[in-house]
Amino acid sequence: MATKNQSLGEFIIEHQAAFPYSSGELSRLINSIRLAAKMVNHEVNKAGLVDITGSIGEINTQGEDQQKLDVFANDTFIRTLTNRQIVCGIASEENDDFITIEGNDGNHASKYVVLMDPLDGSSNIDVNVSVGTIFSIYRRVTPPGTPVQLEDFLQPGNQQVAAGYIIYGTSTMLVYTTGHGVNGFTLNPALGTYYLSHPNMQFPEDGRIYSVNEGNYVHFPQGIKDYIKYCQKEEGDRPYTSRYIGSLVSDIHRNMIKGGIYMYPKSSKASNGKLRLLYECNPMAFIAEQAGGKASDGHTRILDLKPEELHQRVPFICGSKNMVEKAEQFIQRIP
Ligand code: AHG
Ligand code: MN
Ligand code: MN
Repeated sequence: MATKNQSLGEFIIEHQAAFPYSSGELSRLINSIRLAAKMVNHEVNKAGLVDITGSIGEINTQGEDQQKLDVFANDTFIRTLTNRQIVCGIASEENDDFITIEGNDGNHASKYVVLMDPLDGSSNIDVNVSVGTIFSIYRRVTPPGTPVQLEDFLQPGNQQVAAGYIIYGTSTMLVYTTGHGVNGFTLNPALGTYYLSHPNMQFPEDGRIYSVNEGNYVHFPQGIKDYIKYCQKEEGDRPYTSRYIGSLVSDIHRNMIKGGIYMYPKSSKASNGKLRLLYECNPMAFIAEQAGGKASDGHTRILDLKPEELHQRVPFICGSKNMVEKAEQFIQRIP
């Protein structure tokens, strides 16, 4: 039973036994993530005071400008997870290839791999708007004790054992699922402790918020254009409200609490949209479904897509169940 105001540490211990194959390893892994998130939170909070905003002048593997905080967050999560030897491999949006982690004795004892977007919404850092971290955890499929392989990371999202995000917002929250619903913990910065503030989070079945970068409207497929016009039409409980932060974590977090739909569709400029299947869409889809919401690429459930490469992008429609189903109807009407 999730008890409000319980600390995250207490919650993890209480729920450890509920995991299949539980050996405490997954609990220790989530513990390491919450620790790294505290360090990133501390740094994010100092943005503007110390020289941590702005670009480092380098382009990441996907042709995107790396921000100083992208690099800081990436290094912090990788260092924390590596030092504790709590995973056998890490794949990050900021790295070309996955990282193999060996135990002290040269073996690869841990059974979990982590995939992450260490800093999501990084273009918002310099203007003091919420950013986040997204993580996704799988059990390796290759034999324990051997170096991890690409196939350990290219598993469909329906194989995730846990996923979550941290939102560095007006307060800092860690929201995660291990496949038994979604719980949100708020950081008390004075104590450095996360407390259960949002037990059993649920996406309202219907919502009145749509979130999409409408600046790309002319490049969208006709089905998406038609759905946007549907959202704006005066009829019943419409027009809906438009809200778009430009930070996936923040947009989904708000929509999960208030009810809404988030869309990053394909366009004539980007045939698979922008968001990455492994680091962004799969973990958010797992959380959305665990909260009673839905996530698809317009045709197929996100969690059933078979990844082909680490940095693969897919169109992403995610949110309140009835809204996503309505958007899918528009998309599937017009190819
Ligand atoms: P990241 O900062 O990890 O590269 O992710 C940014 C993503 C996502 O968070 C956000 O929803 C989207 O990019 C915004 O893209 P546009 O500026 O194209 O709308
Ligand atoms: Mn991102
Ligand atoms: Mn990022």
